[in-house]
Parts: sequence; C-alpha cells; structure tokens
Amino acid sequence: MKTLGEFIVEHQHDFPHATGELSSLLSAIRLAAKVCHREINKAGLVDITGAAGDVNIQGEAQQKLDVYANNKFKAALEARGEVCGIASEEEDNFVIFESDLSRDGKYVVLMDPLDGSSNIDVNVSVGTIFSIYKRISERGQPAQLEDFLQPGHKQVAAGYVVYGSSTMLVFTTGNGVNGFTYDPSLGVFCLSHQKIKTPADGQIYSINEGNYHKFPQSVKQYLKYCQEPDDATNRPYTARYIGSLVSDFHRNLLKGGIYLYPSTASNPEGKLRLLYECNPLAFLAEQAGGIASDGRGRIMDIEPTSLHQRTPYFIGSSNMVKRVEALVAELD
Ligand code: AHG
Ligand code: MN
Ligand code: MN
Ligand code: MN
Repeated sequence: MKTLGEFIVEHQHDFPHATGELSSLLSAIRLAAKVCHREINKAGLVDITGAAGDVNIQGEAQQKLDVYANNKFKAALEARGEVCGIASEEEDNFVIFESDLSRDGKYVVLMDPLDGSSNIDVNVSVGTIFSIYKRISERGQPAQLEDFLQPGHKQVAAGYVVYGSSTMLVFTTGNGVNGFTYDPSLGVFCLSHQKIKTPADGQIYSINEGNYHKFPQSVKQYLKYCQEPDDATNRPYTARYIGSLVSDFHRNLLKGGIYLYPSTASNPEGKLRLLYECNPLAFLAEQAGGIASDGRGRIMDIEPTSLHQRTPYFIGSSNMVKRVEALVAELD
C-alpha cells in the first residue's frame, strides 16, 4: 500500500521543473480535498445543503458547498506560498495572493471547487477540478491575467477529486494518470489506480439528451449511431449521464466512453468552462490515451481570451471522439 504523500515524495524528480514546490502545492490540494470530503459526507446532517443566496458570474445560484469548497481550496493554496493567485468558477476575477511569500510563488491554480452543484442536495457524486500552470509574469510581482490565460498544453499538472461512493483523487503531472482512494479511517489517500489507460473504443455515451432539439446535426447523427443496433460494434451503446462532469468523466475514463456537451442553438459556445473544467480533464484524458476536442480541434490548443469562457466539449475514448469530429466536419 502506498499513500499519496509517499507517491509525491517518490516521484518528485519526475515532476516538471522539480524543486519540491509542486509537491507542496499538491499536498495543499490533498488537504483541502480531505476537508471537503468530511463536509460533503455530513451533508443532510449539518446546514451545508441548499443555496448560499448569491449568484456567480455565470448567473448560477451558488450553493453553500460551492462557497465552502471555494474557500477551503483557496485558503489551503494561499497558506503555503507556492501559488501567487487562483481563478475559480466562483470568483468573478482571478484572486491575487498578496503576502510576500505568495507573490514569489511560481504557480497559478484554476479550479472548479465544486462540480455538479445540482447533485449536492440529492446525495449524488460531486467533484473538484484543478489545473496548475507555471506563471508567466515575474516572480515577486502580483499575479497577472496572462498567467491564467494560457492554453491547456502549458499545464504542468491537473486533476480532480470525485466525492463518490468513495472519495478519489486522480491527477497527472504529464507522466501518466494515477488515482488514489481515500481511506477515511486512516485519513490518507492510497494509490489504487496506477497508470490509468482508457480504452480506444468504449460502449458508453454521456450527454444531456433533454437538449436534443437544440443540438447541431453532427451530434444528432452521432446519437443515432450510438443507438443503432449493430452486433459487430456492440451497439446500441449504453447511455449514462450523472450530470456531474467529474463523475461522468471518471466513469468513462475507467470503462471507455464519450462525454458530449455540444453547442446548442441557445448556447453556441456550449456550457462547460474551458479553463477550469475542460482543460484539466483534457490533460488527464490525453495522458490516459484519450482525446478532448471542441469538435474541430484539440481542446488544449485553444488560446483562451477570458477566464470564464466556454467551449463545446467532446472527451473520452479516441475512436469515439474522432467519429464525432468527422461528423462535425461533414455536417456542421
Ligand atoms: P458546476 O456544478 O461546477 O456549475 O458544473 C455543472 C456542469 C457539469 O458538472 C455537468 O456535467 C453539467 O454542468 C451538467 O449540465 P446540464 O445540467 O445542462 O446537463
Ligand atoms: Mn456552477
Ligand atoms: Mn463544473
Ligand atoms: Mn462548480
């Protein structure tokens, strides 16, 4: 049995620009994940469910756990000095960490502190997503917008926590994907899923089909393909949609499948946010042998222009995503 702490120490030399700072940063994320695990597991018993009363910059009603997780991850990251600032779904603008120690921090973190807000109150899995970049601006100065608007291929690490039937932390530093399951009795994450690889062909498709009439032709055609019986390719595929991106992604990563959140007539850019939802999971997918695309090209090559920008999103098993890309090229 190997703990996440031991794994980080052992692999420190594999981390990009290894000087120990990224290890410390990951330890901060590990700590905040444990705190959120504890609170999420009490939801229903303590006053942590329901709306917080505010609306975030995306126009979504913030839930109490959105705010709680945002504050815990922010505080854990600010405490150590490796991070000069963060961007979050729940913050209108990026947040500069002001202490001298933090201003010297080498990294910025972008996060979706609580993914799957609509599932909190009904005891369904939620998650946290994080994305880590080396800053571009000079160390010792306050973090700048340019530090956050980097394309996904510049990420040095990314991962997620899924608070599911067990809590897991899955991450990559560009050298494969490893998953750690939390043992609450010991208070440690233990390596449970080593060098995760996703199948090139899957049998699961995940999409909010309630929006069907607003989908582009390519996606309608792809859904038809998924549902058509064909013995040779084991169709029809199975539809699975939790409505928490992290949980849907996690299942498909392990089993093989595709997750789709396309543009719709009313939301031409789709729903999901490039910087703290799409890019980090894209990094994980690619490291596991999968693909993440906006339908026309690689998610991680998009040059970001704003913190909360959205993108159509197709992620998962490589042959499934390629099929959607071919339909987009042909029909849209
Ligand atoms: P968040 O809870 O962080 O705002 O993210 C919600 C996202 C994602 O988790 C999920 O996959 C998607 O919204 C679900 O959207 P629909 O309800 O439109 O299917
Ligand atoms: Mn939200
Ligand atoms: Mn989310
Ligand atoms: Mn969220």
